[in-house]
Amino acid sequence: MFESVRVGGRAKGPLILGYFKDQKLDKPTADRLGDAASDILSRPESTGTAGAITEVFTDAHNDRVLLIGLGTKDGFTAGTLRTVAAAAARRLAALKVTAAEIDLDAQLKATKTDRAHAGSAFGEGVGLVAWTCDQFRGSATDLPKRTKLSLRSGDKAFSDGVTRGLGLAEASNLARTLSQTPPNIATTDFMASECKKLARKTGMKCTVLKGDALEREGLQGLINVGKASENAPCLIRLEYTPPRGGARAKPVVLIGKTMTYDSGGLSIKVGGGMKGMKRDKDGGCGVIGAMHAIANVIKPKRKVVALLACAENSISDEAYRPDDVITFRNGVTVEVTNTDAEGRLVLADALCYACDKEDPGCIVDMATLTGGIVVALGGTYAGMWCDDDGLRATLEQAAGASDERVWRMPHHAEYRDMMRSPVADIVNSAPVRAAHPIQGAAFLSYFCPDGVPWAHIDIAGTHAVDKPTGPFDPGPTGFGARLLSEFLDRA
Ligand code: BES
Ligand code: MN
Ligand code: ZN
Repeated sequence: MFESVRVGGRAKGPLILGYFKDQKLDKPTADRLGDAASDILSRPESTGTAGAITEVFTDAHNDRVLLIGLGTKDGFTAGTLRTVAAAAARRLAALKVTAAEIDLDAQLKATKTDRAHAGSAFGEGVGLVAWTCDQFRGSATDLPKRTKLSLRSGDKAFSDGVTRGLGLAEASNLARTLSQTPPNIATTDFMASECKKLARKTGMKCTVLKGDALEREGLQGLINVGKASENAPCLIRLEYTPPRGGARAKPVVLIGKTMTYDSGGLSIKVGGGMKGMKRDKDGGCGVIGAMHAIANVIKPKRKVVALLACAENSISDEAYRPDDVITFRNGVTVEVTNTDAEGRLVLADALCYACDKEDPGCIVDMATLTGGIVVALGGTYAGMWCDDDGLRATLEQAAGASDERVWRMPHHAEYRDMMRSPVADIVNSAPVRAAHPIQGAAFLSYFCPDGVPWAHIDIAGTHAVDKPTGPFDPGPTGFGARLLSEFLDRA
């Protein structure tokens, strides 16, 4: 893949053109294809499917032309270009070219597609497919040589969109690299120092609460979940302040579950359940990615605070146990029934802290919280709990723009009642498996007072893919970085 991708530059290269399935070539596209236009659609590979590539050399362009299917005209949206761009980028990388020109003018015009949105989706597709993470390869792997790519388009709005999209992809790719980083390296301190590094580079503020500071703030969820690990738990706070104006609006608070490893604790994960739990920090990784894009690309007029509840759920003689009772910052007492339901305990701290200290306009938390949401929605949608109509509508728009989909799940007093404890106020895991992912949301609702617009997003099904999916090879998707960026672009 590419070492880097940028917009601009003078180098010529292949020309990327498009066409719709079951349609004739339009005049401008046929003109750019010159004599190749007459029979190109009768080639067997010219299926018109989104991302299908027909490659030709023509006198009209003194390099290759990649004529790419855009799917059906009726079904076409800016988002189709994410898939199209990913396919184009894979081909460009295989051809080892260093530059390419894109001209989809006629098709964007014919479908009245916003050029900036189209460019952004195209940039995202190229940037996402270009992600590699070779830092953990060693001397026994020969790494392929990587080339730099520059992209050009005659349309200013489209090119500016591509720049934006590449910026969003970079944010997702940061989330993916952090997700990929193994738990012996990506410790709690490592996550904190990555956030400090990001803050330094972007002019954000970063503070870390740890040790005594956690005690002082009454963050007993983090303390208890993290106490069996030699890697001490922390609450990482990142703050973006807009350059001027708008700073008076209440901040948006983004909360991320950042479990650097989830062994299950004393309720240890069995069978194949533990492998892959380095990715139990992906809620936090998505939030860090979003903060990267917020500072570099989106630059909203509102203050944004990120709170990362960071711990390792490990096992030792100091581990918290099933039967322990923990008193939270807001006075709610929790009987631990299962130490593997740890995410909700650290998120509870972050929710209390946000409500007490940040005067939040709204809160969005993101977490790999339950296996149950994977059963319910698979990898197609993240589960979203949000009873505030305005917040939910904005998140749904952001999901549409980013293609990081969310599906509404219910809150109800009956689910809250399921969490009652015979000993304390509530349990962290009900004795029944019924409504499993909803139990998590119901638990969290005890830590966010009515009146604060709040969304909980369970990404356990969407934070990684196990087979090639759109622009993603098997591995982390960085889910949420683009969703939350698009959200802040509208909030
Ligand atoms: N981190 C897991 C959830 C998870 C599962 C994430 C699969 C990614 C993929 C979470 O901490 C967990 O262990 N949840 C348990 C909760 C149960 C013990 C109440 C679950 O969902 O089984
Ligand atoms: Mn767990
Ligand atoms: Zn977990």
